[in-house]
Amino acid sequence: MKYHEAVMREAAVDALAIIPGGTYIDVTFGGGGHSQSILDREKNLKLIAFDQDVDAHANAPDDKRFHLVHDNFRNLEFQVENLKAIPADGLLADLGVSSHQFDEAARGFSIRFNADLDMRMDQGSELTAKDILNFYSEAELLRVLREYGELNGARRVVNAIVHSRKIKPIDTIDDLKAAVNDILPRGKEHSFLAQLFQALRIEVNDEMGALRDLLQQSPNVLRSGGRLVVISYHSLEDRMVKNFINSGNVNGVQEKDLYGNVVGLKFKQLHRKPIEAPEEEVVKNPRARSAKMRIAEKL
Ligand SMILES: C[S@@+](CC[C@H](N)C(=O)[O-])C[C@H]1O[C@@H](n2cnc3c(N)ncnc32)[C@H](O)[C@@H]1O
Repeated sequence: MKYHEAVMREAAVDALAIIPGGTYIDVTFGGGGHSQSILDREKNLKLIAFDQDVDAHANAPDDKRFHLVHDNFRNLEFQVENLKAIPADGLLADLGVSSHQFDEAARGFSIRFNADLDMRMDQGSELTAKDILNFYSEAELLRVLREYGELNGARRVVNAIVHSRKIKPIDTIDDLKAAVNDILPRGKEHSFLAQLFQALRIEVNDEMGALRDLLQQSPNVLRSGGRLVVISYHSLEDRMVKNFINSGNVNGVQEKDLYGNVVGLKFKQLHRKPIEAPEEEVVKNPRARSAKMRIAEKL
C-alpha cells in the first residue's frame, strides 16, 4: 500500500517559488511526495525535512541535497539554526496525519479497526488517547471535545465516557465505540465518531500547540520575500494559519498604531482565499477534499 499520496503536490511546490541555490524546509515529510517534487524542481538547492514519526524515515531519499530531522516541527528554529540553514527561502507544512498512520491498525488512529487507543504520531512521546480517556477529568475531556472535535453534545459524550470507565478502562477502539454507542446520532454515526477521534488525536499530539510554535518561529527562519505554504485539513488549523498571516499572532487580534495601520505583521498573504484541490484530484484522493492551502510571503 502506498505510504501517502501528497495533496496538491505540484501546486504546493509552485507556491514555494523555488530559486536556484535556495534552501527549503518541508516540516511534514511523511511519504516524501512533496519533498521529492522539491528536489526534482531544481538541481542546485538544499532541502531540510522534519517528521516526528520514525516510520516516515524509511522513505528518505538517498540524495546529498537532503537532510531529514527526527523531531517535532515545534523545534524548527533550534534545528534549522543548528544546521546553519537560516535564512531559508521557503517552508512547506502539510499538516495532520499521513495515510500510513491511518492505515496501520496498531497506531489506533482509525475507526475502521480495533486496536489499542494510541494515536501518537511520535512513538516516543508519552501521552496516548487511552490516557486521556481514562485519566482526564470531566472538565478536561469536555474542553478537548468542544475545542477540537467541535462536537454537538460533547457533554453527553463525556458522561458516557466517564460512566463507562468506572466499570472498565477504555483501552481499545472497540471499548470507546461501545462506551458511546447509545448516544451516537442516527445516520451520522460515522462522522460523529470521526470527529471524536479527531479531537483525541489533536490532544494526544498537541497539534494546535505545535502549529502555533511553528508559525511563531517561521519568520525567524525565512528570509524577507521567503514563502510560507501551509496545507491544513480542518477549520481550527486553517483559522490559526489565517490569523497568524493576517494579524501577526495566532489569536487574530490586529494591533494598530496611532494612524490605524496594522502593526506586527510578519507575512503578506498572496491569495485572499485559501486554495483548494481541484475536483479531479479529490476524486482520486478523497483526503484532498478538506485541504486548504495558504501561501504567504515574508515581509
Ligand atoms: C499529511 S502527512 C505529510 C505528507 C507529505 N507531505 C507527503 O508528501 O507524503 C503529515 C506528516 O507530518 C508528520 N507530522 C505531523 N505533525 C508533526 C509535527 N508537529 N512535527 C513533526 N512531524 C509532524 C506526520 O508524522 C506525518 O508523517
